[in-house]
Amino acid sequence: MANKNQTLGEFIIQNQTEFKYSSGELSRLINSIRLAAKVVNHEVNKAGLVDILGAAGDTNIQGEDQQKLDVYANDIFIKTLINREIVCGIASEEEDDFITISGNNNKNKYVVLMDPLDGSSNIDVNVSVGTIFSIYRRVTPEGSPVTIDDFLQPGNRQVAAGYIVYGTSTMIVYSTGHGVNGFTLNPAIGTYYLSHPNMQFPEDGNIYSVNEGNYVRFPQGVKDYIKYCQKEEGDRPYTSRYIGSLVSDFHRNMIKGGIYIYPNNSKNPEGKLRLLYECNPMAYLAEQAGGSASNGFTRILDINPTELHQRVPFFCGSKNMVLKAEEFMKNASPKS
Ligand code: AHG
Ligand code: MN
Ligand code: MN
Repeated sequence: MANKNQTLGEFIIQNQTEFKYSSGELSRLINSIRLAAKVVNHEVNKAGLVDILGAAGDTNIQGEDQQKLDVYANDIFIKTLINREIVCGIASEEEDDFITISGNNNKNKYVVLMDPLDGSSNIDVNVSVGTIFSIYRRVTPEGSPVTIDDFLQPGNRQVAAGYIVYGTSTMIVYSTGHGVNGFTLNPAIGTYYLSHPNMQFPEDGNIYSVNEGNYVRFPQGVKDYIKYCQKEEGDRPYTSRYIGSLVSDFHRNMIKGGIYIYPNNSKNPEGKLRLLYECNPMAYLAEQAGGSASNGFTRILDINPTELHQRVPFFCGSKNMVLKAEEFMKNASPKS
């Protein structure tokens, strides 16, 4: 039985033996993410003081250059992950190529892929942003530097994934393959508490989240599905909610029931979101919470990646809603 007074630290230790390779390393890795998230949270919370403290590109009172928050978050996560002898490589939205960590004689076992600050355009308007992370065991032998093969693994091989949402409260939500749990930060004492044990996507939902400004460019199947959501019939019309922060839109939909769609469109034929550090971790969490994630036709987690920054159309959320959207995609596709 979940104990809501439990801290994230206690939870990690208690559930350590659940990991397939239970050497404590994955626990320590989650621990370092927890720490980096606190540092980033502190900085994100100060974003509104930018006129007082200085904007990106300015020099602050200590003579340091002020960084954009996504660059800052990237640096903090990288530094924190390098400091432990667990991670052998990192891929990030903010880095063109992956980073090799050769410390510990290249014996570290895990690679981390991340979007250090998701929804960063929302910072200036005081709207929630997030961090997304995805963790794999390396596939190349220990003792040698990582290669691209360690990063180009299908999402079904993730050993853990999660996100941090810097919202009205700061939460870390993650899974190691045994369900999804959410922890809320008490900023006064810097401790995360298990506030959302065993999170579950409702099977059906009534929220659809899509940037309808792009409607005319959407594939016919998505247009048809949106019309279906808007139709007055049964429990419809559904409600439309779109923050423009994947983490926040996903988080709301997981709690309330809904679907998030970022389709391919005539301007972005592959979609916008990145497979490896946006869609795969969210798809893993969705499935762990009883939801579903698809590119409109097939399961996201079964896609074999070919590039680090590959994009993919993304349909993710309550199982029956994703199924319905897939049905519209299939019916609208040219029959062969
Ligand atoms: P990022 O800030 O990491 O570049 O990601 C932004 C993403 C995602 O969070 C969001 O759902 C989507 O872009 C919004 O895109 P549109 O503004 O095109 O709707
Ligand atoms: Mn993003
Ligand atoms: Mn980002």
